[in-house]
Amino acid sequence: MRKTTPEFRSSQLSRMAVSAVVHGLLLSWVMIVSGFGAAVVGLRMDYYFLTCPFVDQVIKNTVFNALQADPTLAAGLVRMHFHDCFIEGCDASVLIDSTKDNTAEKDSPANLSLRGYEIIDVAKRQLEAHCPGVVSCADIVAMAARDAVFFSGGPVYDIPKGRKDGRRSKIMDTINLPAPTFNASQLTRTFGLHGFTAQEMVALSGAHTLGVARCSSFKQRLSNFDSTHNVDPSIDAIFAKTLMGTCSRGDNAEQPFDMTRNNFDNAYFNALLNKAGVLTSDQTLSTSEATMGVVKAYAMNQAIFFLDFQQAMVKMGMLDVKEGAQGEVRSDCRRINN
Ligand code: HEM
Repeated sequence: MRKTTPEFRSSQLSRMAVSAVVHGLLLSWVMIVSGFGAAVVGLRMDYYFLTCPFVDQVIKNTVFNALQADPTLAAGLVRMHFHDCFIEGCDASVLIDSTKDNTAEKDSPANLSLRGYEIIDVAKRQLEAHCPGVVSCADIVAMAARDAVFFSGGPVYDIPKGRKDGRRSKIMDTINLPAPTFNASQLTRTFGLHGFTAQEMVALSGAHTLGVARCSSFKQRLSNFDSTHNVDPSIDAIFAKTLMGTCSRGDNAEQPFDMTRNNFDNAYFNALLNKAGVLTSDQTLSTSEATMGVVKAYAMNQAIFFLDFQQAMVKMGMLDVKEGAQGEVRSDCRRINN
């Protein structure tokens, strides 16, 4: 993460203000042109304007403070939003703790390395103090991901609010998350089921500009890969040695997706072009004919990546959202209301 001097902070905030206007206009245009606004009539940019006017500031400050202490948590917040939205829609189902009668999503192997739950708890506690029972956990997750992208140097964008929290969180539902062993056509199919194009899928995968994968997520590429190769031939030979070095420290050893794990930039796409993608699902984006053009464009032009990423994130944040009586506003993000 960049240095966070007061000058940095105020320049970030003024950059934010200008960009927020530009992107607000852009977003309205995107929603009109793409037509997906119709499916989520109840979500509004100013949803909390009267009921909790400081919601944005509270979440921004909470995320900012958390990232000052540990910049690696930006990745956790962005991934949390994705895993929330792809299962049961963006309804904070991922935050619910297991009980003696129910094993929740967060205890699925696919979610065990999710990070940042405490940041959501801190924001929720403050919001409950200011405006009890008003701001949903699902909106907090979506806004925290937005702010994590921004504070890591990524695009600024705003999102419509008004999601309600769900009451279902079951481990079995997480089977629908894409696997790191997927190839480009499997990824395209999985994202297509949620209404995304292949280009949007590539843009969203660009979230891997932040964070790390553990050895257990990619070690199948390093030995007994297939009947003719011991090591996945799509990995650069020197990078394969780097991955093996990481795995020599155990299944939980972490490998950054690119050279700048806390900076939101297009280094991830350049890594793919250099055959230095960490997961099969990363590298396949540059080896598949259907997606390699998009990877090249994003590697060459960060601005195009940022634009596509923010639009795809807004779209992802609207997946199967619950509105009105379809959900509730949890008072504790980890538990459904009684
Ligand atoms: C395209 C399909 C995707 C697959 C197969 C996938 C899979 C994975 C895997 C296996 C990890 C590492 C987990 C671990 O080893 O602990 C990971 C990390 C991550 N994923 Fe994805 N992912 C995908 C798409 C996305 C999307 C769409 C986003 C967000 C918009 C995202 C955000 C992240 C982030 C930020 C991390 C790093 C987390 C951290 O450092 O804590 N991923 N992903």
